[in-house]
Amino acid sequence: MEKMKKRVYSGIQPTGVFTLGNFVGAVRGWPKLQEEYDCIYSVADQHAITVRQNPADLRRQSREMVALLLASGIDPQKSIVFVQSHVPAHAQLSWVLGCFCPFGDLTRMHQFKEKSAKHPEDINGGLLTYPILMAADILLYGTDYVPVGVDQKQHVELTRDIAQRFNGVYGDVFTIPDAMIPKVGAKVMSLQEPAKKMSKSDSNENAVVRVLDEPDAILRKFKRAVTDSEGSVRAAEDKPGVTNLMSIYSVCTGKTFEEIEAAFAGQGYGVFKQAVAESVIDTLRPFQQEYKRLLADKAYLDGVMADGAARAAALAARLLTKVYKKVGFLQL
Ligand code: TYM
Repeated sequence: MEKMKKRVYSGIQPTGVFTLGNFVGAVRGWPKLQEEYDCIYSVADQHAITVRQNPADLRRQSREMVALLLASGIDPQKSIVFVQSHVPAHAQLSWVLGCFCPFGDLTRMHQFKEKSAKHPEDINGGLLTYPILMAADILLYGTDYVPVGVDQKQHVELTRDIAQRFNGVYGDVFTIPDAMIPKVGAKVMSLQEPAKKMSKSDSNENAVVRVLDEPDAILRKFKRAVTDSEGSVRAAEDKPGVTNLMSIYSVCTGKTFEEIEAAFAGQGYGVFKQAVAESVIDTLRPFQQEYKRLLADKAYLDGVMADGAARAAALAARLLTKVYKKVGFLQL
């Protein structure tokens, strides 16, 4: 595939308002990549149905997710923004790639193990083959870089393995992608159980800051955040709660851990938590205002989705045709 700039691809599931974790670990960095790279950002609705979704909610949340992405600064003129199910080539390539992925590689994925444990009543095939669909997303566009949080690293590695296995048989069809993981904030932890990552689907609302939370809710959640009994603001492995708050504060203010330790030396956690909450509120304020404005303009959002799907589909068709020819599907 001819490319001027390197390609970036990432996605997010429309399973509810995204969290501070999604924002800090992934989405916040996406707009900055637009100048240097050709970026494609997708709303991964097909991934979302691996867990049962209410259809009306999924539809609404998919449009809302487009608004959230645009509000974060993604410019649909510069980047392609689209909804995954609008481009059938993802599901089509996924089938082919599934035939190049050993079963054992799928069963050892952390996310599969976690989600199977969480939903023992519905360990469906989609949950297992989820990373193959993600590999199709990435490989369809000749992607060079995949900006994600740490939890998706294993899936990007599996994508590389699948691509290399396919290329080994058919020649250089796929570009081998690299994960792009932020230095700070790549894994934001739950505010209530700091050993666990902050997750959209956490049932304890105090554990999760959502990017559309009102300032007083954000303040309340940070005030209740679990820390430790030492009372000093410093990062350490045995201080996961405080270290997590420091990462969030560092991302929102640009301050290093050393600067944060110095600034809060001798002060209790109360003062620090207040400062973290304020930095998050300030970071999210312009984003929240822009989101409200965009969401009111349904026609604009629908136009962005239609344009994004058309542009993505045109790119995807080229690679899919090549793959179909390579594996021996008869062309009409
Ligand atoms: P999803 O929707 O779970 O999360 C979207 C992005 O947010 C990151 N993230 C976090 N980062 C830091 N701290 C956290 N607590 C945290 N929680 C989530 C994720 O790493 C991710 O980057 N399978 C993907 C969506 C996807 C995709 C793709 C991504 C579908 N196709 C192709 C990249 C390329 C997912 O479920 O992300």
